[in-house]
Amino acid sequence: MTGTSFDLTGKTAVVTGGGSGIGRAIAERFAAAGASVRILDVALEPAEQVAAAIARAGGRASAHRCDVSDQADTTRCFQALVADGPLDILVNNAGVSHIGTVESTTEQDFDRLYRVNVRGVYNCTHAAIGAMKARGRGVIVNMASIAASTGLAERFAYSMTKGAVLAMTYSIARDYARHGIRCVSISPARIHTPFVDGYLKQHYPGKEAETFAKLAATQPIGRMGEPHEVADLALYLCSDAAGFATGTDYPLDGGFLKLNG
Ligand SMILES: NC(=O)c1ccc[n+]([C@@H]2O[C@H](COP(=O)([O-])OP(=O)(O)OC[C@H]3O[C@@H](n4cnc5c(N)ncnc54)[C@H](O)[C@@H]3O)[C@@H](O)[C@H]2O)c1
Repeated sequence: MTGTSFDLTGKTAVVTGGGSGIGRAIAERFAAAGASVRILDVALEPAEQVAAAIARAGGRASAHRCDVSDQADTTRCFQALVADGPLDILVNNAGVSHIGTVESTTEQDFDRLYRVNVRGVYNCTHAAIGAMKARGRGVIVNMASIAASTGLAERFAYSMTKGAVLAMTYSIARDYARHGIRCVSISPARIHTPFVDGYLKQHYPGKEAETFAKLAATQPIGRMGEPHEVADLALYLCSDAAGFATGTDYPLDGGFLKLNG
């Protein structure tokens, strides 16, 4: 299956957190561009549903249960994947959120966010990069957030993790440029995914629509982004068309970072 100028035919792509939201859109977009997609998620059933939807659309995908915060689990999963064939692309997308200031953030929440959002990127990259290095090529895209580079209200732990994602991106890009491996990050502003719907349900019960409108308006462009819009940027960055792109962050934010204030 092809049909875009950013062709991934013949490439194998791992997408973590591919069972929902942005990860799902990336898995579907990559499969539509010809990639064989490995969907990794701590929740197997949604990942299987995405793989089945891709297969119904004529693409190639498989689902794998993997808790990216657990190194042994992640290593096992990547060993099995690599035994099956080389990996060309890794999208470190799995992530969890938290609302709180430094005062209201518990040590447990701080550690939970760190384990998934930071250690998860480390675990997957640690597991995948040796095989990429041996082949002298590969692309790694990390899902950061605008929270990495601006002060969002009540996102203390979340911002901490996304700042670390940016720093890991630069570090990996620097160390592996000479091995033919590119590493970049994407920093979305608010994207309308189950992540956002869950947040509204939990924190603004009965006021979901009103709060949704307020959140949408915080992007100067007047709306939230759509998962497929992030997927299109990820597709470009993972394609050979982006061969000059490494060691930087790509905000996709409806003007949030530069136009607010
Ligand atoms: N939605 C937004 O507004 C937004 C904005 C900026 C950045 N992001 C980032 O984009 C990424 C995806 O967000 P989303 O909105 O699609 O979220 P989502 O909640 O819809 O999907 C996240 C997926 O990650 C999986 N996951 C969670 N913990 C995991 C673990 N330990 N191991 C493996 N999989 C795990 C979940 O099961 C889920 O399928 C996250 O890193 C998030 O921080 C989201």
